[in-house]
Amino acid sequence: MSALQQKVDQVVAVLTETVRDHAPVTFANSLGAEDMVLTDIIDRYHLAIDMFSLDTGRLPQETYDLMQTVRERYKTPLRIYFPNVKQVEAYVAENGVNGFYESIELRKSCCHIRKVEPLRRALQGKRAWVTGIRHEQGSTRLDLKVSAYDMGNRMQKVNPLLEWSNTEVWEYLKQYEVPYNKLHDKFYPSIGCAPCTRAITPGEDIRSGRWWWEAPENKECGLHTGKVIPLK
Ligand code: ADX
Ligand code: SF4
Repeated sequence: MSALQQKVDQVVAVLTETVRDHAPVTFANSLGAEDMVLTDIIDRYHLAIDMFSLDTGRLPQETYDLMQTVRERYKTPLRIYFPNVKQVEAYVAENGVNGFYESIELRKSCCHIRKVEPLRRALQGKRAWVTGIRHEQGSTRLDLKVSAYDMGNRMQKVNPLLEWSNTEVWEYLKQYEVPYNKLHDKFYPSIGCAPCTRAITPGEDIRSGRWWWEAPENKECGLHTGKVIPLK
């Protein structure tokens, strides 16, 4: 058995166990490279996990194109959540459409309105959520566990690709001809909202193109900052 297949088997085992112990399970799908690996595995192994995307209203066209492709290629439907219109309108009236560049507080409140609040709705009624987070994604993600209780969202949080390398992610995508975001071919290893993501130069940290004007320890949008208690 190939080394990659062993890693895939481990992911399937983690997800199967999650479905057994914490159903209903949902997968937060940003359509990034890692999330396309998980999309393909969930579909290929017929796992009872649904998936959703948070459409912030500011995503790059390439991400919307991939959402459409996912809808056509995979059986698992992708639920799309949009921010609360009144909150976005109030934020924009007070701070301007690009107010998030002005301070960390204004950046975090935009992320709160466009991502964190919709996440709460997307997770309603679920007992576990799955993400594509990996250790290699930087200083804010080193202490995480594959499966832990997420106090903030009051459910299990599962990161099955935590120990995968970037090379393994791409090996999987190539091997199974999985569709991926076209921005990855233009030096965007990590993709979020268009105004808050830029291309990196070779050798730079993989998340250095996200909120590039901020210090590395601030680079979280609030989706993953809740307190988690490891169970194993
Ligand atoms: S972020 O917090 O900085 O935006 P990142 O882009 O690294 O996160 O993605 C980490 C994980 O968070 C993804 O693998 C995915 O599970 C989840 N995630 C991030 N953005 C979204 C989104 N727009 N919709 C759904 N899930 C998302
Ligand atoms: Fe707003 Fe930028 Fe956060 Fe997107 S990444 S929600 S545009 S601050």
